[in-house]
Amino acid sequence: MSSQTPFPAKLITLERHIIEGERSHPGATGEFSGLLHGMSLAAKLVWREVTKAGLVNILGRTDRMNISGDVIKKLDEFADQTIYKAMDHLGHLCVMASEENEDLLHIPENYPNGKYVLLYDPLDGSGNIDANVTIGTIFSVYRRVTASGPGTMEDVLQQGNQQVAAGYVLFGSSMMFVYSTGHGVHGFTLDPSVGEFLLSHENIQMPRKGTIYSVNEGNEGRWAPAMQRYIRYLKEEDKETGRPYSSRYVGSLVADVHRTMLYGGIYCYPGDTKNPNGKLRLMYENNPLAYLVEAAGGASTNGEKRTLDIQPTSLHERAPLFIGSAEDMRIAQEFLHGKRT
Ligand code: AHG
Ligand code: MN
Ligand code: MN
Repeated sequence: MSSQTPFPAKLITLERHIIEGERSHPGATGEFSGLLHGMSLAAKLVWREVTKAGLVNILGRTDRMNISGDVIKKLDEFADQTIYKAMDHLGHLCVMASEENEDLLHIPENYPNGKYVLLYDPLDGSGNIDANVTIGTIFSVYRRVTASGPGTMEDVLQQGNQQVAAGYVLFGSSMMFVYSTGHGVHGFTLDPSVGEFLLSHENIQMPRKGTIYSVNEGNEGRWAPAMQRYIRYLKEEDKETGRPYSSRYVGSLVADVHRTMLYGGIYCYPGDTKNPNGKLRLMYENNPLAYLVEAAGGASTNGEKRTLDIQPTSLHERAPLFIGSAEDMRIAQEFLHGKRT
């Protein structure tokens, strides 16, 4: 074959990538393949509903009523239940927890309990759906710490540094599945004609420094002075450091962090006088994204300590989030710690 071959060098599906990744680790049991495959199936089912969101008013609600006449479910509830149902029977998990449910989600009695724990934000940025803005699903996997039987709170309340895998799905102009098992961060784009995720972003590496900051600046008046000074610094003119930075804020964390991972820069959701711990949830949002960003060469803190080293004490606790390129995070920390003014 000539070197001008029209074929891509390699066609790698998500499935192949996971299996080949597992094979390269001696002792791997293949459990991740099943787990991640379950997540990718759930993602495709959610995507199918998300793409119909704009048609609800045109098609009416009848086609989306079930036989018992229940009214249409909110998409985040749909996503929540779809993920649970795609994962509850596989035998890999002993417990799940989701942003949409106050309590732990146990595995039904007729299915086996496995050795992993799944935490997820079924639909992140759901307030953006009606405006056709990118939203997504975020997930996080831990190994259980209890020996057997149904998983407990102890299995769930682990530090983020104990994650064994994390990922997110983006429902945007295309659908993407991004994951890491600690060996690089890899992105796949759905080819809708065949229903397969194909490797499109191999081994994502964040730029060491960017020129974009992302924060809800409407809250500025409630921020600590150090935070106000940091953002003011980013807006000052200085050619050498690429300032002023550009401001970008989608309002869907998963999309803002995805952009930050590809283009570099920083995303902040600080605490403020009204919400001292900010808005984002440590277990479903901050930890999985911090795990991915670190695996791509970036960093994340709550302003004081590394996000992944925070000991969670309750399922739905919130934590401030600073996440981004290594150099941007270094400068942000200097401001937040009062070493720069
Ligand atoms: P969710 O839709 O899962 O509740 O998350 C919403 C979050 C997050 O996606 C986003 O970054 C943040 O809310 C935006 O908050 P503000 O509107 O306060 O900026
Ligand atoms: Mn969210
Ligand atoms: Mn959500």
